[in-house]
Amino acid sequence: MAGAVGPASESQHAVSEIVVKESEGGPAMVRPPVASPDAAVELREVSKAFGKIHAVKGVSLQIGQNEFFSLLGPSGCGKTTILRMIGGFEQPTKGLVYLNGRVVNHVPPYRRDTNLIFQHLALFSHLDVFDNIAFGLRMKGLDGRAVRQKVLAALELVDLAGFESRRITQLSGGQKQRVAIARALVNEPSVLLLDEPLGALDLRLRMQMQEELKEIRHRVGTTFIYVTHDQTEALTMSDRIAVMRDGLVVQVGTGREVYGAPRTRFVATFLGDSNLLEARVTAAGSGAVIVEGADGQIQATPHTDVRPGGDFFVSVRPEHVQVWHPDEVDPGIENRLEVRVREVTFKGAFTEYRLVTRSGQALIAHLPAGPRRALVPGDAAVAAWRRDDCVVLTG
Ligand SMILES: Nc1ncnc2c1ncn2[C@@H]1O[C@H](COP(=O)(O)OP(=O)(O)O)[C@@H](O)[C@H]1O
Ligand SMILES: [Mg+2]
Repeated sequence: MAGAVGPASESQHAVSEIVVKESEGGPAMVRPPVASPDAAVELREVSKAFGKIHAVKGVSLQIGQNEFFSLLGPSGCGKTTILRMIGGFEQPTKGLVYLNGRVVNHVPPYRRDTNLIFQHLALFSHLDVFDNIAFGLRMKGLDGRAVRQKVLAALELVDLAGFESRRITQLSGGQKQRVAIARALVNEPSVLLLDEPLGALDLRLRMQMQEELKEIRHRVGTTFIYVTHDQTEALTMSDRIAVMRDGLVVQVGTGREVYGAPRTRFVATFLGDSNLLEARVTAAGSGAVIVEGADGQIQATPHTDVRPGGDFFVSVRPEHVQVWHPDEVDPGIENRLEVRVREVTFKGAFTEYRLVTRSGQALIAHLPAGPRRALVPGDAAVAAWRRDDCVVLTG
């Protein structure tokens, strides 16, 4: 504190921050609240400021034993900072971090039951595969036989048996990745922290490694906390996802939940494409609401409390929008809007229709190839979607 750098006004600021820190989570704290008993990791109102930058703003999370949990969000939203606080490389400015029910705010990384795999792997290129994986065990003072046994078992786990004496420079990107994972798993951590570990790989290898990580995950009884800005990666691998924005967790749920029932415009558009329509709620029941927009009434599903009178956005995914000839519409579909076709693009697995409503709102529909009558730009058509696929957003 005495050594604080910068002008006097700034060191004043630093002093008050440290006082806050001690009263919240430091030794001055008498008795921390009891953590949820079965959580592997719990964050309670955790914040982290770097000077004036508020990287994490009051995040609370519970991550279960053996869960594969992802932190998903755009660059700079605070994902790495959260991971580093769980690993002990940063201390929260406020709030409590629990590992297996115990507050660990002041426990250094090497005394936590966690292991962090960095974005850039940080393998020792002058050592071979065996020595890279053995490094931590030798630091702990294990004898040679125990080291050998554990290293070989870890290599088996990541499907690299026989690679012990390879040099790091002789490995492919995916193999280096697996060495980094073996080096972390050899310590048998109860929580494995991974910071965009596949970020440097090309798409094909990344998808392959996603599958391998899933398999490794099923072979070891470990909690995985995975940081990524790639929504497909998070959906592919996770039991649950925390979607982050600007230092906050904005929604937590399974992939199906956060994709299928986004709460806000940000979540709806960050996880995949979404059509957003502005509308006023005119009637609200328990399972459905009616909203009135520029093109008339739409029936939607509320996932939270919405009251008549409020202005909201509703979201419908392009794959849930059907496009019909005006004389062919399925009458069982709740929502139908007259549209004009602007553009039709073949995209391989589906065809994309860009549509415009009578009021001028743009809509996108993704339709699987099928034996339907073709529509071409300029055609009048009907865009239709089910109430259940149409979500009222609250932010
Ligand atoms: N050591 C640090 N000093 C100052 N600012 C930092 C530091 N680490 C992270 N930040 C800032 O905190 C915010 C969150 O960073 P980070 O957790 O790395 O985001 P993400 O991993 O989601 O990209 C960013 O604005 C970043 O610039
Ligand atoms: Mg990061």
